[in-house]
Amino acid sequence: MAAGGAVFCGWDGAEPEPSYALDGACPEADERAQLEPDTDGGWRVVSERVTVAVSRMGTVEVRTPGGVVLRRDLPPRWWEPAETVIDRACEGRGAGGTGARWHQRSEVGADARFFGLGGRAGGPRLKDGSYRLWNTDPGGGFGPGDDPLYLTMPVQLVVADAGTHLVFHDNSWDGTVTLREGEEGAGSGHDRPGGVRMRMEGGPLRYWVFVGTPARVLHGWAALTGSPAVPPGWALGHHHARWGFGDANEVRRVVAGYRERNLPLSALHLDIDHLAGHRVFTVDAARFPDLPGLAAELRADGVRLVSIVDPAVKAEPGNAVYDSGAAAEGFVTDARGREVRGVLWAGESVFPDFTDPRVRKWWGGLYAERLEQGFSGVWHDRCEPVSFAAFGEPTLPRSARHALEGRGGDHREAHNVYGLAMARAGYEGLGELRPDERPFVFSRSGWAGLQRYGGSRSGDVTTGWPGLRASLALVIGLGLSGVPYSGPDIGGFTGSPSPELYLRWFQLGAYLPLFRTHSAITAGRREPWEFGSGVLEDAAAALRERQRLLPYFMTLARLAERTGAPYVRPVWWRQPKDRALRDCEDAFLLGDALLVAPVLEEGAVRRAVRLPRGRWYDTATGRAYEGPGQVVVDAPLSRIPVLARAGAVIPVASPDGGVELEVWPPCEGRKGGGSLAVDAGDGWDKAELVRFVSRLRGDEVRVEREGGVEAGYPVRVRGAAPRSEQRG
Ligand code: GLC
Repeated sequence: MAAGGAVFCGWDGAEPEPSYALDGACPEADERAQLEPDTDGGWRVVSERVTVAVSRMGTVEVRTPGGVVLRRDLPPRWWEPAETVIDRACEGRGAGGTGARWHQRSEVGADARFFGLGGRAGGPRLKDGSYRLWNTDPGGGFGPGDDPLYLTMPVQLVVADAGTHLVFHDNSWDGTVTLREGEEGAGSGHDRPGGVRMRMEGGPLRYWVFVGTPARVLHGWAALTGSPAVPPGWALGHHHARWGFGDANEVRRVVAGYRERNLPLSALHLDIDHLAGHRVFTVDAARFPDLPGLAAELRADGVRLVSIVDPAVKAEPGNAVYDSGAAAEGFVTDARGREVRGVLWAGESVFPDFTDPRVRKWWGGLYAERLEQGFSGVWHDRCEPVSFAAFGEPTLPRSARHALEGRGGDHREAHNVYGLAMARAGYEGLGELRPDERPFVFSRSGWAGLQRYGGSRSGDVTTGWPGLRASLALVIGLGLSGVPYSGPDIGGFTGSPSPELYLRWFQLGAYLPLFRTHSAITAGRREPWEFGSGVLEDAAAALRERQRLLPYFMTLARLAERTGAPYVRPVWWRQPKDRALRDCEDAFLLGDALLVAPVLEEGAVRRAVRLPRGRWYDTATGRAYEGPGQVVVDAPLSRIPVLARAGAVIPVASPDGGVELEVWPPCEGRKGGGSLAVDAGDGWDKAELVRFVSRLRGDEVRVEREGGVEAGYPVRVRGAAPRSEQRG
């Protein structure tokens, strides 16, 4: 039992460390929580938030302080391939080694719902079925039925009436989690509990459990695995990307297109086609003769450049990156010490071993070249890692050797942490090279703890309405797995969306942390003006609304840093006991204040919205609705429904460029509130977090700072009730 209420359980001598997930040192044990004999001959340990009981047979129960069982882990089973037993005997290693496979069954409440496991296209609620733990590029585009994808992690968030708990199996090996929801009153009237079966191909059996509200368990998770990195302010604006802009003039044309139409643009991303022969850390001088000059030109217009970085290095003497990596013996090898060769865009390639601290340092230094070229941030891609293979899995061979921080091991253990370790290398490298600015890194792949270094993205989602739905599932699911900053390829990666689909995707994206259009080289255009004047006008409105909400997004980023709470939260976030909310997957809360209900169906101009408890205002019409319950609201093509919680105080950009507070009237006799993270720039300064309280005084809405001081910002009252403007 650790300080803060986290429970660690290690079988067969497994210890919490070493671990890729933990942020620094393992938490201190809580000295007050001691194992004591239980009445049935087993043992138990009691703490404020949780009781853990271990039976004589080895069943572990996690109970609420009130004694309700949240999870029952049955005794695990191990079995070992014969060669591992022989290896062990030869090497004299003890049990708890990494060769043994194991499986374990667990039971959860009959009403429990499952979330998490990283980025899953079929979520956010994980239905009955098997989910593999092996980071995988599905190749081409994916839809809701494709699993696994690029970023898996053994984090289960289980939500039930009795309480929420998060279980993290700290094991990076290949495995499968099979989930089965329970059934209340099944058959003879008895409940059938929900079931989880974990089957791992090796690695230790050790796990962490957090119990409490959803906010509390994610707070505990962030305390264990690290605070989410705060993106620089510009990374919360709109990004435009595509594979295949072609050349500098095309980039200029696209940026000018945004400027001429008065469309805000924060960043433009260059994909692999800007590289010389697809070699990492190079530039094709014919297409981009003066990239630093172009970057400066764009910067003057408020547009940053972001660069793709793939890990594969063309294996070619004379290629400086290859030569320096080879000299440092920095590439993944086979058991005989020869470089493992794979294939990526540039041809035959080798792969840096990011599980070696020396290699991370070397690789991090290479980002100097990106900074000199004028890039402000990086997009890590293909770091599952991908190697195009004629047959078998498109990744490195399982026998490939890795340093694993000096412990040594092979790709079976290193595969899932490859992207995570690459993100660390990039983040630390950029931090050293440009110490005054927070790095901007987002990575297609990763593992538990990725949030320390940056965010993620939803990968190559197939263009189509199912892809739009999958985009939202991924962002919510990643947030519940501790990675709060992510977003989809707006419009889908492949083909050409219809104008309506593009617009609906764009409108959703405007409320997601990473707001980025992107597509494949063979796909149609994704600029907002390519879909007709109606779409342009409506997309422009979404862009302007995003700009207006930037102070709120920055506040959410700072809150995520402090508390681990994702910006994008499921609608049950504050009311996990509301079962109808638990099953609702087509809307989300943006922070505490807003409920966003995207249109995910073709032709829809109205939609049902399931409301959490309390009063909610349709922000477009000002009309108030009372939750809990379901209402039907207008969703014309020009906008998606966004509702504001009664009493919410939302920091937004004011027309004069400052910050103002948008407040929605609280209910009679109730207080509302909100916070503002005062802009602390893109360096490392801590942001001051100001809390506001809203109240009704007669007919008037008042906003003050917590503690009764004046708000200090202009206040704009919205909503249907009789209101007057007030200055704070
Ligand atoms: C991968 C990425 C995609 C990128 C492409 C070329 O498919 O997911 O975003 O455009 O590679 O780099």
